[in-house]
Formats: sequence, structure tokens, C-alpha cells
Amino acid sequence: MRVAVSNFKGGVGKTVVAQHLANAAALDGYRVLVVDFDPQATLTHSMGLAEVREWNTVWGIMCRDLCREANRIADDYDDPADCPYPTADELPEDVQSIGAQRVQDFIQRTSWSTIDIIPSCANAAFVEFASAQYRSIHKAWSFFGCVARYLDELPDDQYDLIIFDCPPAIGYQSLNAAFAADILYIPSGPGYWEYDSTTSYLGQLGDALEDITNGFERIAKDAGITLPKKFDDVRVLMTRFEASNTLHVAMMDAFKNVFGSDVCQNPIEMTRAVEQSGRFQMSVYEQDYRQMTRDTWKRARQSFDSAYGEFRDVVLRAWEARTKVEERVE
Ligand SMILES: Nc1ncnc2c1ncn2[C@@H]1O[C@H](COP(=O)(O)OP(=O)(O)O)[C@@H](O)[C@H]1O
Ligand SMILES: [Mg+2]
Repeated sequence: MRVAVSNFKGGVGKTVVAQHLANAAALDGYRVLVVDFDPQATLTHSMGLAEVREWNTVWGIMCRDLCREANRIADDYDDPADCPYPTADELPEDVQSIGAQRVQDFIQRTSWSTIDIIPSCANAAFVEFASAQYRSIHKAWSFFGCVARYLDELPDDQYDLIIFDCPPAIGYQSLNAAFAADILYIPSGPGYWEYDSTTSYLGQLGDALEDITNGFERIAKDAGITLPKKFDDVRVLMTRFEASNTLHVAMMDAFKNVFGSDVCQNPIEMTRAVEQSGRFQMSVYEQDYRQMTRDTWKRARQSFDSAYGEFRDVVLRAWEARTKVEERVE
């Protein structure tokens, strides 16, 4: 199952949530792949990778996809000369060389033996602009389906869970995250502006997905993508929550009024353990408990463990619903 941790707003705890869910799932025995879609690359750095080049990021996956799709589309014509779009060998040379990478070349190891990563780097933000140029070079490219197609290429049993850490923006790479995700997990802080930007994020993501549904129907159909994009589940997760803060409690109620049972029952608490462990670029799961007071460490662990328990239920429910549908189809 693929889960995108995503929100428009920066600093709401997306990366912290993605990192801790990945750690908790790995400790629970699952094989995890994390995909860093955010060129700020905080998750990449916190997983111990420092030297990443843009062709090893999601952007590289998009370039490779363009090459493969260009050839697939040309192959659909009985006479390739009839194809109005370029083939891979007519694409810019740098795209071709990135396109020559193999599926596993994008995956790197972390210090966790059961967590792998597709990393990001600052340059991935810069080259994002190139995607617009590639779209104009190849007008039949379903540029929003690259990562979904890529992940489909991985062997079914390589990972149990794939977690995306998304940037606070809607662009080519983050649209790919939305399209590849089965479940959206939306962290939000317990303040009014966070509420405001969370609703605005959902609105804008909805609009972007609708634009794709309306504007790219044929391209998507030819590429075997079903539109409109549907998620198995969408959940809002309150972060940096203080149960003793009446304002936070009031905001939690407001969120529940609007999003109902889609709001996670177990918020992530505001904790010094995250700030403390962040200093060492570690998660609460990695940090030595002796670096803080025992109570701080224990409460932080409890908060992340409960949030993970609920997350696992959400994922397993979606998984079981899918398996049932597949059984019915058979
Ligand atoms: N539960 C928490 N308790 C305390 N600090 C937190 C918590 N979650 C996140 N933070 C801090 O907030 C900042 C932003 O978190 P981050 O996960 O990087 O947000 P985003 O990925 O949404 O930009 C970081 O400095 C992080 O240490
Ligand atoms: Mg982040």
C-alpha cells in the first residue's frame, strides 16, 4: 500500500510523521520504502543520505518514464513514421541517459535494514521546471502517472508499505505523488491558519485532479490510467498537539466538525523529544532515551506508537477492502 503524507503547509510535521511512521512500521516487521518528494530533502538527510544527484530522485524517475512512454506510444503505431511524437532517441541527450537507468537504480539503502529510500535533493526543485519543457516536447506523455508506473514495476513482494513525504506545493512531482498514492495522510497543526491551509490544500488538490480528469482523459486512457483518481482513504492527522492547551482542543473539535471520522483519533503530541532528537537528525525511535528525561521519551514514544497503531488499521482496512474486490472479480 502506498501512503502519501501531504499538506500544502510547511512546518506542520509532514516529514516527522513520515519518518516516524516508517520507523514504527519497520519495527513492526514491515518492509518499507520511503519516497522523498520534497527537494528540501529533510527526510533524505534524516535517513543519513547527504550526496544525492537529481537523476537519482523522483525527477529522474520522471525522465526515465518519459523515455519508456515515448517508445511505448510510438510502438502503438503500425508504421512508426506515422507517430507525431518523438521516440526516446529523439529526446534531449540528458533525458536519454537518465532514461537508461534500471528500476532498482533509484532505490538506496538506509541505516535501517528494512527501510529503503528514493531520495531527493535541492536540485530536484530546480529541474522541476524542465518537466514543463518535456511536456511540450512530448504532448502525449501522461506526466502525472510516472511514479505510479515506476512503483508498479517493482516486484510485488519487495515492500509492504511505501510512504511518500511530499513537498508543501502542488507541482509535477507532487502530482505524481497524489496519483501514485492509495491513501492520503494529511498532517495539520492545531491552529487556525493550519486549518485554513489544510482546507485550501484539499480544495486545490481536488481542482488539480479534476483538471487532469477533464484535460487528459484520452492520454490517460491510452496509458491505462483510470480517471478520476480515487483514494482508498483520506485521513487528517493532528500534529504538535497539546492536550492541556484549550485552543488546541477547540481546534481539534473544529476539525472533527468538518472532517468527522476522517480525523485520526490519536494526535501526535507536541514533544521536546522531537526537537531534541531532530538536533541529532534522528527520530524518537532512534534516539537514546538517556538524552532526555525518561518521562519525555516515554510520552513521545506512546504518542507515535498510538498514531502508528491507528495508521496500521487504516492501511490494513484499505488492503482488505482491495483484496475483497479482487476476490469478487475473480
Ligand atoms: N510532534 C512534534 N513535537 C515537536 N516538534 C515537532 C513535532 N513535529 C514536528 N516538529 C518540529 O516542527 C518542525 C517542522 O516539522 P517537519 O516535519 O519538518 O514539517 P514539514 O515536513 O511539514 O515541513 C521541525 O523543526 C520539527 O522538529
Ligand atoms: Mg518536510
